[in-house]
Amino acid sequence: MSKKLFIETLGCAMNSRDTEHMIAELTEKEGYETTDDFVEADLILINTCSVRERPVHKLFSELGGFNKKKKPSAKIGVCGCTASHLGEEILKRAPYVSFVLGARNVSKITEVLHKDKAVEIDINYDESEFAFNDFRSSPYKAYINISIGCDKSCTFCIVPKTRGDEISIPADLIIKEVQKVVNSGVKEVFLLGQNVNNYGRRFSAEQEKINFTQLLRRLSTIEGLERIRFTSPHPFHMDDEFIEEFASNPKICKSMHMPLQSGSTKVLKEMKRGYTREWFLNRVEKLKTMCPDVSISTDIIVAFPGESDEDFADTIDLMKQVRFNQIFSFKYSPRPETEAESFTNTVDDEVASQRLSQLQSLNNEILDELNAKSLGKVYRVYFEELNRDYFVSGRSDNNIVIKVKGSDDLLGQFRDVKITSIGRTILTGEIVA
Ligand code: 5AD
Ligand code: SF4
Repeated sequence: MSKKLFIETLGCAMNSRDTEHMIAELTEKEGYETTDDFVEADLILINTCSVRERPVHKLFSELGGFNKKKKPSAKIGVCGCTASHLGEEILKRAPYVSFVLGARNVSKITEVLHKDKAVEIDINYDESEFAFNDFRSSPYKAYINISIGCDKSCTFCIVPKTRGDEISIPADLIIKEVQKVVNSGVKEVFLLGQNVNNYGRRFSAEQEKINFTQLLRRLSTIEGLERIRFTSPHPFHMDDEFIEEFASNPKICKSMHMPLQSGSTKVLKEMKRGYTREWFLNRVEKLKTMCPDVSISTDIIVAFPGESDEDFADTIDLMKQVRFNQIFSFKYSPRPETEAESFTNTVDDEVASQRLSQLQSLNNEILDELNAKSLGKVYRVYFEELNRDYFVSGRSDNNIVIKVKGSDDLLGQFRDVKITSIGRTILTGEIVA
């Protein structure tokens, strides 16, 4: 009987892809098979996120839960960003853990498996050209890494300490990978990197000079590839050439994630984001002018140290001007080894909660207004998931989740769908063509 592997994945799309890489290595080289039930697993992995504090606390209680109910012979491994930043400490706090594998060391999964109490967390380890085995959780769309690490030094962010310096993956490897998934039937790719539009800044060996816009142009010549998405671009690197390519290239999906963080230039400066409120608004205006159907999503942090009522009002005002289609909003959470950790002008937690709920109510109002305008409109949907009650769902080009009644015949297919009813996060429609 084959050995069973259970993996829980927290955090961002980058982690989801790391999980796919670990599954690929463990199934191909070690004969594992995945399971959804950790109680029957021979290996339990938790692929962690450390961007905010709460999940770190949760990690240890979860590990305790795994340890209590797991098979006596089963191993537990802690992987991902929290593994990178806590390292040895995980083994001290949870001595039943077998190994700790950092976010920049995923390719060593089959090595650490056989070394008791291994801790592999070198953030300078270069995996940018590692040839992983192949595993993809969806046959319809594929995550493709284009860079690893992050070269920025945003004062709130732990990521550069867990994923190391930014290294771009050579363009010829990316193109080959995309060609391979397209040959296997995938029609949509999702390019991944911490700052995708900084692509090409540094490679691990001598490479041809190529930037993100040029990479997009090249990828879009691949026959059979119909949609290209990417995350996350950085507002600082959104030059005219990039926005023009985004708007004019029909294969690039018209949905842009623009992580704002704050609408106040003063706070942006304290965060070391590298742009001002005016630059952000200017980029949004250019984007909307060139591409009227674009949907824009963002990340916002409230109550960063020193954020005054006026600064927060600037964020609210910017939200009203931009009318984002989706906002991921967070209370500032101090992280170890970051510059902002030592800032003493912290904002009272009650004020932080109040700001977060004000922001989220405004966002819901805006979303309801935007969604109401979708009623009766027709979107081209790429179907990728079978849901309960005979519904099948997919996304429009501009990233709206849309479901229709139907069967698995629709999976992997494009259809025109007319919207018949509206929810806040998902729209329902019927196929018209
Ligand atoms: N506190 C709160 N939110 C954070 N993020 C990153 N670091 C922190 C932090 N210390 C948010 C940012 C980022 C998203 C992935 O997580 O908004 O864009
Ligand atoms: Fe963190 Fe800033 Fe890098 Fe994003 S760009 S991962 S927020 S340091």
